[in-house]
Amino acid sequence: MSNLERTLSIIKPDAVERNLENEIKEIFKSKGFNIVKNKKIQVSKSEAEQFYKVHETKPFFNDLCAYLSSGPIVVMILEKENAVAANRELMGATKPEEAAEGTIRKKYGLSIDKNSVHGSDSIENAKVEIDFFFKD
Ligand code: CDP
Ligand code: MG
Repeated sequence: MSNLERTLSIIKPDAVERNLENEIKEIFKSKGFNIVKNKKIQVSKSEAEQFYKVHETKPFFNDLCAYLSSGPIVVMILEKENAVAANRELMGATKPEEAAEGTIRKKYGLSIDKNSVHGSDSIENAKVEIDFFFKD
């Protein structure tokens, strides 16, 4: 049974700053993800707050939004069978030191905040997040 899905991935400022964009894109492609659309942008603090609204009551919310808006990011629509879960698995745990071997966060993540990539956590959120960055 085919279950082609789309998910939103972000290469976060810490990874873009270290010129890891192409390396990380190659990892996604080598794992069978099709990069349907991608663009390098910088979001404002208020756009970051909208994007991370689900976290607005968390103590780390302000720092998180300041960080996401601190420099260029690469936003991508990834497509693959079960893309949402497959991307979460390839990303690894939120804390890089807890991420499994072979995951992107294990390889590139610097800290819980500078953990190199974002990925949608559900099919429903993937749709909302894809719309957020690629409305047209
Ligand atoms: O990104 P992921 O879905 O794995 O984690 P999250 O719980 O949805 O949190 C979103 C982002 O907030 C994380 O990727 C971290 O960069 C950041 N965060 C943080 O800075 N401090 C925490 N205690 C938890 C999350
Ligand atoms: Mg999340």
